[in-house]
Amino acid sequence: MDISALKSIIEKEISSVSNIEQLEKTKISLLGRKGIISEHIDKIKTLDKEERKFFGRELNQLKEWTDKRFIELKRFYEDEEKKKRERATWIDITMPGKVPIVGKKHPITQTMEEITRIFLSLGFSVAKGPDIESDYYNFEALNIPNDHPARDMQDTFYIKKGVVLRTHTSPVQIRVMESQLPPVKIIAPGAVYRCDSDVSHTPMFHQVEGLMVDRHVRFSDLKGILSIFVQEMFGSNTPLRFRPSYFPFTEPSAEVDIGCVICSGKGCRVCKDTGWLEILGSGMVHPQVFRIVGYDPEEVSGFAFGMGVERVAMIRFGIDDIRQFFYNDIRFLSQF
Ligand code: PHE
Repeated sequence: MDISALKSIIEKEISSVSNIEQLEKTKISLLGRKGIISEHIDKIKTLDKEERKFFGRELNQLKEWTDKRFIELKRFYEDEEKKKRERATWIDITMPGKVPIVGKKHPITQTMEEITRIFLSLGFSVAKGPDIESDYYNFEALNIPNDHPARDMQDTFYIKKGVVLRTHTSPVQIRVMESQLPPVKIIAPGAVYRCDSDVSHTPMFHQVEGLMVDRHVRFSDLKGILSIFVQEMFGSNTPLRFRPSYFPFTEPSAEVDIGCVICSGKGCRVCKDTGWLEILGSGMVHPQVFRIVGYDPEEVSGFAFGMGVERVAMIRFGIDDIRQFFYNDIRFLSQF
């Protein structure tokens, strides 16, 4: 029996092991019940007494040595596996955290809410009307008959004959007055539509309508309410002025300008050197409109106004192209 030859076979086998699966297989082929060492142990029986004792001891030592080698190797491969797992699941706790993107309200929504807040504080409540409106509410009932040149003032989107996308929020005035008796004190924020598109016009934009009807409502009430609004919205030193104008549903009518917030009235590109910026149309409700909704113009009077929300937002945030509000560019929107 050649022990050193057996040992070099074992060593060769062990050194060819390169992973844990091979290790198990090789271990069985060397140390298993039918393994190479057991084969040799079985052969001892055929030897005489002295040799039995000698080879028995030698083989036992070899077996123990082999066992130890396998224990070491197994520990080595288990360590490797553990390191590999750790490397795969490693977390760098020094990395900066991911900041979640938080959405914000659109600047037009913000502006509309601010306008609404101010009028609510003045005792107005909010009324709504449909975006798809009948010719009657959008024009007729507002004292704009079919052949009236005022229809050319607004480039109307027609859905079909007699049905339009509302060109202003004024039809809500009619709907409210039809459905309730005076006193009336409402604002009506919402989208309006006109077939128009350039740096200062978009086919869809927003207005906030205002309507106050009661006994003895005077032009000075309109001026008082709008003065408070302008001071709240643009600052307490902002001047406003009324410019005579024309609307079929108000008489007298006026357009309201505020002192240019960019140049404080000195004249600049934004106010086209006038020192003033137009923000709304207004006037005293026309007697004919009262008659149409069944109010008695001898009994009640009222004022109405219609404000352009995009215009207010452009002035407030210093934006010179209205289309910016509708590109949905997150770099623009996230500034507000
Ligand atoms: N509806 C008018 C417009 O869109 C504005 C307005 C409203 C004027 C109420 C007077 C009274 O231009």
